[in-house]
Amino acid sequence: MRVVTRACELGTVDGVRSRAVVMTMGALHEGHLALVRHARATADEVVVTIFVNPLQFNDPADLERYPRTLDADCRLLEAEGVDVVYAPSDAEVYPGGAPIVTVSAGAINDVFEGAARPGHFDGVLTIVLKLLHLTRPHTAVFGAKDAQQVIAVQTMVRDFNLPVQIAVAPTVRDDDGLAKSSRNVFLSPPQRTDALVLSRALLAADAAAGSGAAVPEVLAAGMTVLDSAPAVAVEYFAALHPVSAQPVAEDYRGEIVIAVAAQVGATRLIDNVTTRIGNSDAAHQGGTL
Ligand code: PAJ
Repeated sequence: MRVVTRACELGTVDGVRSRAVVMTMGALHEGHLALVRHARATADEVVVTIFVNPLQFNDPADLERYPRTLDADCRLLEAEGVDVVYAPSDAEVYPGGAPIVTVSAGAINDVFEGAARPGHFDGVLTIVLKLLHLTRPHTAVFGAKDAQQVIAVQTMVRDFNLPVQIAVAPTVRDDDGLAKSSRNVFLSPPQRTDALVLSRALLAADAAAGSGAAVPEVLAAGMTVLDSAPAVAVEYFAALHPVSAQPVAEDYRGEIVIAVAAQVGATRLIDNVTTRIGNSDAAHQGGTL
């Protein structure tokens, strides 16, 4: 495995039939490694990028304390058979300092993670576009854990006609249901227990949807679970359209993403599940795009 800090050291894709890239901010865990395994199983060459992108942090304290574990990350990636780790400096990625031209996530900025973290998705899309240019993959693999991020990336790829396939890998969880996250290391044992209500609320909502409930009842089923942990400050618990990320109407039928964000102590956690409201195929066509 090669570890490079400059894109010119990545090598050309000319002789490579398929290059897959997994973009990360490091502090790697099993969730990231599942994306790497997906890439390894489907591509000839696997590139993993590690870059803590300042542009997507709306909170400077969050950027400051974000875990950085490059040596341990490289050991994990070597064991997964990764070909190249690309770990650029800020100066390589942002040669002119803070960029003047950036990507806008448009209406995706107005809702849920976009509304809670102003500038976040513009920062994510700007770095994803840069890393696509710098690594020139055939496929880029993203995690369903960050549902709105996946929608934002898919929208950018569609709207900019980018020549890349986007693959999505399922959310990896601890045995008790907590979604793996680089931020979980900040949870004290009691906070970690409290945090379990997020995945339990999603399960309850999913079960309600499975038994035929409409959107308001599905959300109410999850909220009941969230209310059982007063130490968990819920920011939103909502049903999103899987293509636009916009909130769905109360009478919507079809596929939805139920997404939650909550503050547990000083740590902000997000999670989601994809489910379906109603059963008929005709109802599933009810998107807004
Ligand atoms: P990061 O949070 O490091 O996540 C990198 C990738 O791993 C993302 O696609 C994310 O969805 C995925 N991931 C994280 N936890 C996961 C889990 N428990 N199960 C499955 N996949 C998981 O997301 C980012 O970095 C950045 O925004 C980035 C795309 C790298 C741009 O800076």
